[in-house]
Amino acid sequence: MAANRSCSHSKSFSDLKFSFLLMSFLLVGIASAQLSSNFYVTSCPGALTNITSAVAAAIRNEARIGASLLRLHFHDCFVNGCDASILLDDDPGTNFVGEQTAFPNVNSIRGLDVIDSIKSKLESICPGVVSCADIVAVAARDSVNILGGPTWTVPLGRRDSTTASRDTANSDLPGPSLDLSALIAAFSKKGFNANELVALSGAHTIGLARCVLFRNRIYNETNIEPNFAASLKANCPSSSGDNNLSPLDAISRTIFDNAYFIDLVNKKGLLHSDQQLFNGGSTDSQVNSYRNFPETFRTDFANAMIKMGNLSPLTGTNGQIRINCGKVN
Ligand code: HEM
Ligand SMILES: *[C@@H]1O[C@H](CO)[C@@H](O)[C@H](O)[C@H]1NC(C)=O
Ligand SMILES: *[C@@H]1O[C@H](CO)[C@@H](O)[C@H](O)[C@H]1NC(C)=O
Repeated sequence: MAANRSCSHSKSFSDLKFSFLLMSFLLVGIASAQLSSNFYVTSCPGALTNITSAVAAAIRNEARIGASLLRLHFHDCFVNGCDASILLDDDPGTNFVGEQTAFPNVNSIRGLDVIDSIKSKLESICPGVVSCADIVAVAARDSVNILGGPTWTVPLGRRDSTTASRDTANSDLPGPSLDLSALIAAFSKKGFNANELVALSGAHTIGLARCVLFRNRIYNETNIEPNFAASLKANCPSSSGDNNLSPLDAISRTIFDNAYFIDLVNKKGLLHSDQQLFNGGSTDSQVNSYRNFPETFRTDFANAMIKMGNLSPLTGTNGQIRINCGKVN
C-alpha cells in the first residue's frame, strides 16, 4: 500500500481512483473469493468423482449413512458457516473443545469416518488441495441423489476453519421441541424464510431419530395419529430405550422422496418439530403442496441446499486446507 501511495501522486485523479478500485478488488479477491463449481477442475480433476464413488460405496454398505452425511452438512453450515468446524475433534491435550459434544451433536452425528476416508484418498491424489468443508458439501449432495433425490451443482472453494464453537452449536442448531415460531426464527437467523425452512425440513424423508427425542410426542401429544403413536411406543418405552431408533419417515426411510410431507398431513410426523410444520399454522399450505407436487419439492430442496452451502464460507486466503479433517494443521 505504501509503495502504491508514493508513486501515485504523478497520476491523474481518475487513474488514482482506478488503481484504488483495482487494488481493492484484488485484495478482496484474495481475502474472500466467490465459490465456483469448477474450483478443482485443474487442481484436482478427480475430486468429485472420487467423492461420489466413496459415498455410493458407503451407502451400499449402510443406507442410513446417506442421511447422516446430509445432516453433517446442515450442522456444519448452521454453526459459523460451512467451514468443517463440526469435524474438529475435542482434544484434551490442548484443551480444545469443538462442536461434536454440543447437545444437538453428541451421540447423534455420524459419518465422520466416511469423510475422513474420502479425505485421505484425496490427499493421496492431490495433497493439500480439497477442503474438508467441500467434501462434506459434495457428500451431502451425492447422498441425496443416490437415495433418489434431486441433484445440483455444488459451488466449491470453501476452506476449513481453525476454530469451532460448541456454544454456537448449542444455540443455533434447532432442537426437536421447538414450536413453529421458534423454527422460523432459527432459520431466519441464518437468512432462510419459512418456505425454505419447510423445503429443508424435507431432509427428514431419510434417516432415523432416537426415542429420547420423540418420547414426549408419542406419549403426551394429541396431534398424532393414534395407531402411529401406538406402534412407536413398542420400540420406545416411557422410561427406557432412549437410544432406540425409529425412522423420521416411516413410509420410505431410505428413499429421498416427498413422503415426509405425506406423513405430516397424516399426523405422522415423528418429532414435535416435524408436526409443527403441519399443525394449523402458516406452513400448512406449503406442506400440502409438497405432498401433492413432488417435483416442486425436489426443485425447492435443491435450491435451498445450494443456499445453505453458501452460508459464510471461508475463501481465498482465509482458513486453511486441513490435512486431517479432525484437527487444525
Ligand atoms: C427444522 C429444524 C430441524 C430439527 C429440529 C431437526 C432435528 C433433528 C433430530 C432431533 C434428529 C434426530 C437426531 C438423533 O436421533 O440423534 C434429526 C435427524 C436428521 N436430520 Fe434434522 N432437524 C432439523 C432440520 C434438518 C435439516 C435442515 C436437515 C438437512 C438439510 C436435516 C437432516 C436430518 C437428517 C438427514 C437426519 C437423520 C440423520 C441420521 O439418520 O443419521 N434436519 N434432525
Ligand atoms: C479418483 O481420481 C483419480 C485421479 O484423478 C482418477 O484417476 C480416478 O479415476 C478417480 N476415481 C474415481 C473412482 O473416480
Ligand atoms: C408427559 O408430560 C408430563 C407433564 O409435562 C411429563 O412429566 C412426562 O414426563 C411426559 N411423559 C413422557 C413419556 O415424556
